[in-house]
Amino acid sequence: MDIFDKCFSFKQQVETVKREGKYFYFRKISSAQGPEVILNGHRMIMLGSNNYLGLTEDARVKEAAIAAIKKYGTGCAGSRLLNGTVDIHEALEAQIASFFGKEAAVVFSTGMQANLGCIQALVTQDSIAILDKFDHASIIDGCRLAYGDFKRYPHNDMKSLERILKCHPERGKLILVDGIFSMEGDLANLPEIVSLARKYGARVMVDDAHGIGVMGENGKGTAEHFHLEKEVDIIMGTFSKSLATIGGFIAARKDVVEYVKHVGRALLFSASLAPPLVAAASTAFKIIEAEPERREQLWRNAHFWLNGLKSLGFDTGYSTTPIVPVIIGEADKTFEMCYYLEEYGVFVSPVVPPAVPPGRALLRTSVMATHTQEQLERALDAFAQAGRKAGIIS
Ligand SMILES: Cc1ncc(COP(=O)(O)O)c(C=O)c1O
Repeated sequence: MDIFDKCFSFKQQVETVKREGKYFYFRKISSAQGPEVILNGHRMIMLGSNNYLGLTEDARVKEAAIAAIKKYGTGCAGSRLLNGTVDIHEALEAQIASFFGKEAAVVFSTGMQANLGCIQALVTQDSIAILDKFDHASIIDGCRLAYGDFKRYPHNDMKSLERILKCHPERGKLILVDGIFSMEGDLANLPEIVSLARKYGARVMVDDAHGIGVMGENGKGTAEHFHLEKEVDIIMGTFSKSLATIGGFIAARKDVVEYVKHVGRALLFSASLAPPLVAAASTAFKIIEAEPERREQLWRNAHFWLNGLKSLGFDTGYSTTPIVPVIIGEADKTFEMCYYLEEYGVFVSPVVPPAVPPGRALLRTSVMATHTQEQLERALDAFAQAGRKAGIIS
């Protein structure tokens, strides 16, 4: 057997799907990631981006990145541990720690690496990680890298979480949960999770990739939304959504951060975050603090969008956030919807099994603060037409 055999058969499968017009991945955008983008020469309304606050196009964020390139160059050519730490890494870490009210923070090169490094470092042989079934893939991969065990409970099922916690009185336990679940836009039941963690001596880590800049009175995320910033032991985040660039971090107690910095392989054995990205993230944090009106506009757009889809008759699940799933059910119908929406000038992403459970294929939509009412109305018209054509709404 040739190890490449699977690649050939996979290629054939992809080609069949492409011929049937059901392939909506790796689409080539030739513009910035704004409320509208250019796809194959056509202007489309972008409803599939995580640029919640619209900061990827902000002049101050771009200027900060350019200034950092001028001073530090385009990269650090090494790991944080050795030659790759520059002064702005540490300044950003202090800024993040203070933003979240934690003792310390450490910055990784992506959010995925933050999860891999932190989980692998903490979940040692004598420990167990406990996950929601809808947690992000990077959490699962972190658990696979770790020497400790991991157990998953059905989505937001607190009884099952308690059953698992009860079974492991002697082990160190880390409950890992998304603040906002990335596909369906619903929230973790943090109050209950924190209370169970207290009862059974577990620690709580919240992956707030989608919550930062979005949730809470000051945009500090899902923990702030529930007034549980102190009770959540580790806040993990990424710069690839509201923070307008790439990169990731954890914020926690100082000894925990120091330990992860010295044991997390995704930090130790990978080059540090490039200076322009450090500067972009730092500026985006400052804007989040200084301009709450962006978040307020995001929420006005989110409510308008969610209510609009509901009143057309679409199933939007349990979303209460700027991520709104349009649950279609069957994968083929989901691709059909995507096809019509592209024709009508709307970019959305199809999410089909195994990324979601069988029978729960969906279109993942998400709004930005920078969408105008007119753009959202036009997108609703497109959804109405596409939904009727595909026989999903009447
Ligand atoms: C919930 C969640 N965690 C982690 C990540 C990984 O972040 P990054 O894109 O910075 O690697 C993502 C992004 O896809 C995410 O949605």
